Amino acid sequence: MVDNREGVNHGHITGQDGSYLADFLMSKGYEVHGIIRRASTFNTSRIDHLYGDPHDQKVRLRLHYGDLSDGEQISNVIYNIGPDEIYHLGAQSHVNVSFEIPEYTANVTAIGVLRVLQSMRGKGGSMRFYQASSSEMFGVSPPPQNEETPFRPRSPYAISKVFGYEMAKHYREAYHLFSSNGILFNHESPRRGETFVTRKITRAVAGILSSRQKLLYLGNLDAKRDWGYAPEYVEAMWKMLQLGEPVDLVVGTGEAHTVREFVERTFSYAGLEHTDYVKIDSRYFRPTETGELVADTSKAKKILKWSPKVRFEELVKIMVDADMRKAGLQPPGEGDEILRKKFVNPWWRVD
Ligand code: GDD
Repeated sequence: MVDNREGVNHGHITGQDGSYLADFLMSKGYEVHGIIRRASTFNTSRIDHLYGDPHDQKVRLRLHYGDLSDGEQISNVIYNIGPDEIYHLGAQSHVNVSFEIPEYTANVTAIGVLRVLQSMRGKGGSMRFYQASSSEMFGVSPPPQNEETPFRPRSPYAISKVFGYEMAKHYREAYHLFSSNGILFNHESPRRGETFVTRKITRAVAGILSSRQKLLYLGNLDAKRDWGYAPEYVEAMWKMLQLGEPVDLVVGTGEAHTVREFVERTFSYAGLEHTDYVKIDSRYFRPTETGELVADTSKAKKILKWSPKVRFEELVKIMVDADMRKAGLQPPGEGDEILRKKFVNPWWRVD
């Protein structure tokens, strides 16, 4: 029933999740509209493989300029397109950066959600809304975290996400919008932004092997996260909007590892000794850090019938293979093999 239905993806389409979601929705026959911010440099590399000539009537991916700080533009886009589904993924999404620019973060990451919800309410109809809520909202609440765990956010980013979460719920309760929160734990891939810790590490390994980088500077190696593989998480987002009722769901692997373990696995897979290259730089420590984040996904397993296939060590190998290839090196290939075995016909372009 959902196949070939026309739908719309609104959001940060140029990011990791937006680009995978565009891949996924287009594989299902959706017409996808994405909002991109104007920039003086090209910022569409993750979706270039999907984008055709906009003069071609058959092109099913359309991009619109917009910014979450500009409510009028958001409202115009929603009004003109009249989407079936809105995936709100846009945010200033870097936790450490949010300490430096708290006001901007709140404007985009918190109030941005409200701008989209207000526009949906104004347009009326039966659009469905997905809010990209985050495990960061749990902050220092002890693990494992599920839908009942209280939020104890520890950064301007996390506080903004709590606002977005509550607004998504509020519009559901007050105005009966189909509005769902996916509380996603960290999810990574070769398309992950280069300043997030996993990608920073896998890129560094490729940089060291190709003599472009000498050392890797990191912050808190004891931080513990629940890391999964991003394409699988995008499928969970879509499944949430196909349910009969809106829901709030925790999505993660249920397994946590330290940054140190990620470093060790990455370097040893590439045949390097991490102690020769990794240095600590205090600038990467955050003024306040979250506790251990570990997802309790019992509800998602039951309601969505979703559980992830890619485990921690496999994720490391997938990311290292991709970054080595990008650096012009021959990767060990175990990551490629894992992908071939676990995903027979992937709907995304494998990097
Ligand atoms: N970025 C970064 N850089 N993090 C580092 C570094 C470093 O050099 N060294 C240690 N870390 C630690 C951070 O202190 C944090 O505890 C952990 O590595 C993960 O950091 P990030 O990869 O930046 O991700 P995050 O967990 O803060 O946030 C990401 O995941 C959230 C979902 O839980 C982001 O994608 C958020 O937008 C998302 O909501």
